[in-house]
Amino acid sequence: MKDYIDEQTALLKTRIRNSPVLLLISGGVDSTTTGALLLKILSGDQIHLMYMDTGLMRKNETDAVCENLKKLGAKNVHIIECEDDFLPALKGVTDPEEKRRIIGDMYITVQHREVARLKLPEDYFLAQGSIRPDFLESGQRDGGKTSIIKSHHNVASPLVIAKREAGKLVEPLADLYKNDVRDLGRFLGIDEEIINRHPFPGPGIAVRILGEVTKEKCGILREADAIFTEELKRRRGKSGKTLYDEIWQAFAVLLPIRSVGVAGDERKYGYVLALRAINSTDAMTAGVYPFKTRDLLEISTRITNSVKEIGRITYDISGKPPATIEWE
Ligand code: XMP
Repeated sequence: MKDYIDEQTALLKTRIRNSPVLLLISGGVDSTTTGALLLKILSGDQIHLMYMDTGLMRKNETDAVCENLKKLGAKNVHIIECEDDFLPALKGVTDPEEKRRIIGDMYITVQHREVARLKLPEDYFLAQGSIRPDFLESGQRDGGKTSIIKSHHNVASPLVIAKREAGKLVEPLADLYKNDVRDLGRFLGIDEEIINRHPFPGPGIAVRILGEVTKEKCGILREADAIFTEELKRRRGKSGKTLYDEIWQAFAVLLPIRSVGVAGDERKYGYVLALRAINSTDAMTAGVYPFKTRDLLEISTRITNSVKEIGRITYDISGKPPATIEWE
């Protein structure tokens, strides 16, 4: 990791010099580590960290991200509240790739608008925390021969392509897999809480709400997902670690169907929620996490007791392949 940092230091210092760099922060380990690396190598004054609250984030995420950025010593932090841009744009949209495209484009629209407000010079560098699997799964490497499994907006967007062509795109983690990024982040002094945070897709919970994304559904999923995560953090597995730390990625998915249930004497049609928990090393393949039945039952009960709109919970027992980790 020290060699990697030395290598990046030489590369980035020569390439960027005193130009401003705009880093889009998602709050995950990839972009936070990119931020920490840039802050280590370049001057805090030239680095602008922009975080967009799209309304598609996890519960309390924006507050946590703000705190983290301050801890990293960032000077120019721009928090953009833009739920009102994203949710209307997603109205009526059910196709997963269409959702990703809309979200990716909206990112760029909002980014343009907000960058204009920053009054950075035209030739600013754009940095992002793309890692190796992002390229492999987006068909960007090997002359685009890899088949496109899912279009990751952070790689395929027009502005990113333009910046790449202009030689103004900075992706210092592009050769790393997730676990390398964690090692690097640790080496740079980032908190374990952030380092061990499960991966989260760029399009956020939009790809975990199957079918149309609405504000109401975002609220329901966020609440259920927060309870799931909280339970995983307070329960311990066989290794003695928390379930959250034993599991590579876990999250809840809101399905676009309602299922019958009972509430007192009445029949009630509640949402169906799927819980997903997988183990993986690089997200290319994944195995289902073998929960103890009691953990699943208790977690499920707590979610249905707390989130009244959810009437039924199911556990996804599909590996990758044939399934993917996310449902969309
Ligand atoms: P899949 O679902 O393809 O996911 O097995 C592999 C890993 O990638 C994450 N993922 C995404 N990340 N934009 C991202 O930045 C996306 O559109 C996207 N789709 C999936 C997923 O959470 C998993 O860790």
